[in-house]
Amino acid sequence: MAGSPGNAPISSTSCAAPSTEVGTIAAPRSDGAAPPRRLYGRRRGHRLRPGRRRLLEELLPRLEIRLRAGETLDPRRLFGEERPLWLEIGFGDGGHLATRAAAHPEIGFLGVEPFVNGVAALLARIAREGLANIRLFTDDARLLIAALPDAAVARLFVLFPDPWPKKRHHKRRLVDRATVAEFARILAPGGELHIATDDPGYARWMLEALLAEPRLDWLAERAADWRRRPSDQPPTRYERKALAAGRRPVHLRFRRL
Ligand SMILES: C[S@@+](CC[C@H](N)C(=O)[O-])C[C@H]1O[C@@H](n2cnc3c(N)ncnc32)[C@H](O)[C@@H]1O
Repeated sequence: MAGSPGNAPISSTSCAAPSTEVGTIAAPRSDGAAPPRRLYGRRRGHRLRPGRRRLLEELLPRLEIRLRAGETLDPRRLFGEERPLWLEIGFGDGGHLATRAAAHPEIGFLGVEPFVNGVAALLARIAREGLANIRLFTDDARLLIAALPDAAVARLFVLFPDPWPKKRHHKRRLVDRATVAEFARILAPGGELHIATDDPGYARWMLEALLAEPRLDWLAERAADWRRRPSDQPPTRYERKALAAGRRPVHLRFRRL
């Protein structure tokens, strides 16, 4: 497994909050409140092939971040040196993250995804391509964000988060005013946030939250800037499916002031 990092786990402690198969977690918030709400759907899909199961058993423990409740994560600990940190929340099958990591070996990448099959797919690419600059968190992104210090992240990607289109499910949406405030807190000045969705209702909902955050500045100058994927950005699996189905994704890019 060329280029895979050393044998020591990032941390030997156990997770901050217990996750269940459907992920009902009371996520810590910066305001101290801990609303118990469901955060993500399935943690497992189809049965994994033996090779992927082995990667979960052998490679994942070397790349996975585990957090104790109330712990602050020192980003320098992740790669054994100071590096710019790019964070992707809900990476799905990891296609975007792996392509970015291969293109930027000088950057440290942190990927968050609770869906085990997606994690296994990314591990397969990490192993195949010998990517040494990726670390993983396999639980709710808000637990990780709460542990990150201010200004720790240079770029943050939230690409096609689950839209939860039904009104009664809106409370499950990952992006809301509270998480946007946290995104602004963990981004370094000059850092960038990129959010995408193919759901027009969620796009409006996110834009409202983003525009209400005074520390973030929308980079779009014309409609083409949010209608088109940024030219340096590889498409995600979900995005390809959305385009094939005739939906038109929206790409929102903001800079941290
Ligand atoms: C619609 S999929 C998109 C996946 C990928 N970004 C893409 O575009 O192909 C949304 C992903 O977000 C993950 N997710 C949902 N809630 C999450 C949370 N609270 N923290 C981290 N990831 C989450 C899901 O497991 C799922 O893989």
